[in-house]
Amino acid sequence: MLRTRFCEVFGVAHPIVQGGMQWVGRAELVAAVANAGALGFLTALTQPTPEDLAKEIVRCRELTDKPFGVNLTILPSINPPPYAEYRDVITGSGVPVVETAGFNPAEHLPAFRAAGVKVLHKCTSVRHAVKAQALGVDGVSIDGFECAGHPGEDDVPGLVLIPAAAEQVTIPMIASGGFADGRGLVAALALGADGVNMGTRFLATAEAPVHDNVKQRLVEASERDTELIFRSLRNTARVASNAASREVVGILAGGGGFDDVRDLVAGSRGRKVYETGDVDLGIWSAGVVQGLVHDVPTVAELVSRIVAEAHEIIAGRLAGVLA
Ligand SMILES: Cc1cc2nc3c(=O)[nH]c(=O)nc-3n(C[C@H](O)[C@H](O)[C@H](O)COP(=O)(O)O)c2cc1C
Repeated sequence: MLRTRFCEVFGVAHPIVQGGMQWVGRAELVAAVANAGALGFLTALTQPTPEDLAKEIVRCRELTDKPFGVNLTILPSINPPPYAEYRDVITGSGVPVVETAGFNPAEHLPAFRAAGVKVLHKCTSVRHAVKAQALGVDGVSIDGFECAGHPGEDDVPGLVLIPAAAEQVTIPMIASGGFADGRGLVAALALGADGVNMGTRFLATAEAPVHDNVKQRLVEASERDTELIFRSLRNTARVASNAASREVVGILAGGGGFDDVRDLVAGSRGRKVYETGDVDLGIWSAGVVQGLVHDVPTVAELVSRIVAEAHEIIAGRLAGVLA
């Protein structure tokens, strides 16, 4: 067993988090993560309405009696989803923890605090982590440049970002982006984090509710097979390299704007990738850590393997280095 203060504050056995994943963070996966003793997050906006989120929370409870949370991703949008209504479902459901991501969560914090919901805020820079800490969140999760999804625009990898944050963050801190195994967990602890958050690695597990082709694609892909789209729009996203993402990169590099790629990047196309297994059909998130993904284990196998490997590294190889 590895215990950190993250385990104490968030009430889980292992310092391992499964972050929110659009279309993927559903009850099957999140309950498996909870049953393995780690902290999983249902993705609120995967559910078409707040009422559907309430039902998904109930469905997850039927699959586990361990704690799990909900991710609320707040992104700029022309037609924003009803964030306050999703938030009210979370506060009314008895879920003990929320992962906020994207925009500053200040507007929602009083409601979470009043309901006793702990907040783990996910961000991509030291300054945003420090700001979230000042706002009173219970923990921060910091995504380095390696991560799947939105790494921000600073391009600082975890090897520098996490220790830089550790110099200023005093609340529990989770390192995110580029983690897949026990080596990464030990490295994160050494850099000053209290645990790791993983997306890509959990996408390639038996319980992830996506087509097998997507999981096999992660196994086959190397660390070089991701694309950074939307750089010119300052809304960078790291996604799997495929026909769609390479076309988007080409159009934007050639001076195109969002309207020129709107159809290619539609969320509905990305969703179809997971449903049909046509991995070139649309945009789907994947991190460089796919280069370390070599199999598709169950979540229980994955979590116990990471913990055992981390234990072995600390007690064996690292202890052996001491003169
Ligand atoms: C398929 C996929 C979908 C994701 N969707 C979201 C999301 O909706 N909200 C969010 O906050 N993070 C999202 N993420 C980011 C993860 O929660 C996590 O921060 C990231 O994957 C960590 O980097 P890693 O992939 O290197 O482990 C997504 C990641 C993946 C792989």
